Amino acid sequence: MIARANGMHVSITGLGCHVPERVLTNDELAQFVDTSDEWIRDRTGIRERRVAAPEEAMSDLSLPAARRALEAAGAAAGELDLLIVATVTPDMAFPATATVLADELGATEAAAYDLSAGCTGFMYAIAQAYGMLAGGLAQRALVVGGDILTRILDWSDRSTMVLFGDGVGAVVMERVDEGGFLGFELGADGAGGRELLLPRSGSRIFDDGVPAFLTMNGREVFKFATRVMVSSAEALLEECGKSVEEVDVYVPHQANVRIIDHAARKLGFPEEKVVVNVDRYGNTSSGSIPLALADAADDGRLGPGKLVLMTGMGAGLTWGSALIEWTHDTNGATV
Ligand code: ACO
Repeated sequence: MIARANGMHVSITGLGCHVPERVLTNDELAQFVDTSDEWIRDRTGIRERRVAAPEEAMSDLSLPAARRALEAAGAAAGELDLLIVATVTPDMAFPATATVLADELGATEAAAYDLSAGCTGFMYAIAQAYGMLAGGLAQRALVVGGDILTRILDWSDRSTMVLFGDGVGAVVMERVDEGGFLGFELGADGAGGRELLLPRSGSRIFDDGVPAFLTMNGREVFKFATRVMVSSAEALLEECGKSVEEVDVYVPHQANVRIIDHAARKLGFPEEKVVVNVDRYGNTSSGSIPLALADAADDGRLGPGKLVLMTGMGAGLTWGSALIEWTHDTNGATV
């Protein structure tokens, strides 16, 4: 689907992020499997990632990010009427992590549910919140995106375990007088679903011996990513009547610096407009884009009036872009 904003102005009024304390370096990974810091940096751009402590679940990482986003927006949890958590690693299948978080925050008036769209979850969730806010179903939404992918990795598989990390971002979304989201482009190609999946995580019965770990065909996902990161962004810019030159900040999904470089080059973004933090966090799935937004806010690139393009992609296979004219001062987002 592709759509321009319908005339209602909806924006991000607060931003907050949280990553676990534990930093895991490439050199440490090289102690478990046959890999090296040089290979990982060269093929992915990743230097280190964060790993949740055993007692930390998705709702635990979400709580500080959500509190920070609410504080930045000057909103109380009780004023939320919509709470979406985009994740593929919820605390458990049910109750939804969003309901756990709503309870911890005191968001007693909010509809709360989880959304699953792989690493694109955050993009799908902000589009959904936009629709609810613009349509008048909700007045103030909290959208959380994040994952604890380190919990579903096979730590003996060097082709996946080097790529991922843990982290969460949260945004408050509200109607505003001007600026805000200009449009969204979202897509899904279920035929590619087999390229990136988590067997034994639902009702499908798998043959004995199929492990319950994230399984990925890296080369196929790489090809898919380099294609949709460009096509989705181009389609959305055209739909919104904007050019690459008009975009101030480009926030791509942080999976692999080679995918980011390819997309930026094809689209024509100079280096200074591209937000990159995959070197510090690895691929945090639905946390990737809000964590990158927080970095851009903190380094002064994001501010009122800036035109920001975000594009995500992930399991499904899914992808999604959003274009927003930033309206609020959101620095100090990382906690
Ligand atoms: N250390 C050392 N060697 C390795 C490692 C490692 N960690 N991993 C793989 N290799 C080896 C392979 O075994 C292979 O060896 P061989 O030639 O003897 O068979 C060799 O390196 C080359 O492997 P390739 O798969 O061709 O390496 P490539 O350059 O394609 O990089 C990578 C692999 C990084 C996985 C890349 O394909 C990629 O980034 N794919 C996209 C992944 C992605 O974005 N996933 C997230 C999607 S979002 C979501 O929803 C989770």
